[in-house]
Amino acid sequence: MALLEVTDLRVSFDTPQGVVHAVRGLSFGVGEGRTLGIVGESGAGKSAGVQALLGLLPGARTGGRALFAGRDLLTAGEKELRRVRGGRIGMVFQDPLAGLHPLYPVGRQIAEAVRAHDPGIGRRRARERAIELLALAGVPDPARRAAAYPHRLSGGLRQRALIAMALAPGPRLLIADEPTAALDATVRAQILDLLRRLRDERGMALIVISHDLGVVAGLADEVLVMYGGKAAERGGRHPLYRRPQHPYTRGLLASVPSAALFAGGGGARLRPIPGPPPDPRDPQPGCAFRPRCPHALARCGEDPPLVPVAGDPAHLAACWLVRGPEGDGP
Ligand SMILES: Nc1ncnc2c1ncn2[C@@H]1O[C@H](COP(=O)(O)OP(=O)(O)O)[C@@H](O)[C@H]1O
Ligand SMILES: [Mg+2]
Repeated sequence: MALLEVTDLRVSFDTPQGVVHAVRGLSFGVGEGRTLGIVGESGAGKSAGVQALLGLLPGARTGGRALFAGRDLLTAGEKELRRVRGGRIGMVFQDPLAGLHPLYPVGRQIAEAVRAHDPGIGRRRARERAIELLALAGVPDPARRAAAYPHRLSGGLRQRALIAMALAPGPRLLIADEPTAALDATVRAQILDLLRRLRDERGMALIVISHDLGVVAGLADEVLVMYGGKAAERGGRHPLYRRPQHPYTRGLLASVPSAALFAGGGGARLRPIPGPPPDPRDPQPGCAFRPRCPHALARCGEDPPLVPVAGDPAHLAACWLVRGPEGDGP
């Protein structure tokens, strides 16, 4: 059994404008030492999906099951979730400034994260540990950087400081939500290298979320492509990039320069997919991608199930055009 096993996750928000259906029945998992990439356009439900697991969406309604080391996070109480967040699951967000307090030196904030997890550790030892963690996260001259305030650091160093903080309790799973969206291409590649190295050295499970298939290409063992709060396609990295089945995945791939796919992402967009994403306030029956799909059929008015692609039981796609194991596609 995988470290994290999410089954049929649903997340919705009650708003004055109506119910927002952010995640509509999503299943995925990740094992120790493995990386899952979650990809999709803005608004697909990527962040809501992982934040719901950690109890970070107080107003949300959730359904389904999310077993972490055998325990269901969706039924856990606030106290237990707080312990999980400061412990076995670490999280890194897009904007490192949002995760750092502007008025304290970064070393002190990391030392506090160390002490929160291990109250018995002395202040001096916690400070030393913070410097070790900064070094581990690839911050050069970590003793000097520990004394710096967040705004004195470059974007790349701030993201490294935030990763150091997430590593403080020795998490078994690290979730990085758009960890490189605010960084330029060179720094982005360095941060992705760092995540890969930390995963390998520490045997952590890693979930990397991005709107860019290029970002997860060099890192993920498995990729989940989300559209309109659901899985459009899921599979091993190589089968998914080499034989994409869902027209949405193909559209996303066509919008990433192929060089970027293997250099860790970024760069100019090629052909964006025309048309707007679906409105999560008003989910329509049938395939959510239908209005933008160049291959839509009458049958697409019915919800396509997520089915295995012929020849690869671990590669699944939700599209009527996919030839299933019984060869029942068109
Ligand atoms: N707290 C919230 N209240 C109402 N709607 C929300 C809230 N958080 C997210 N949403 C909506 O849920 C949908 C999915 O959002 P999100 O998970 O942030 O997408 P992604 O991370 O894929 O860009 C969006 O339509 C967003 O506006
Ligand atoms: Mg997001």
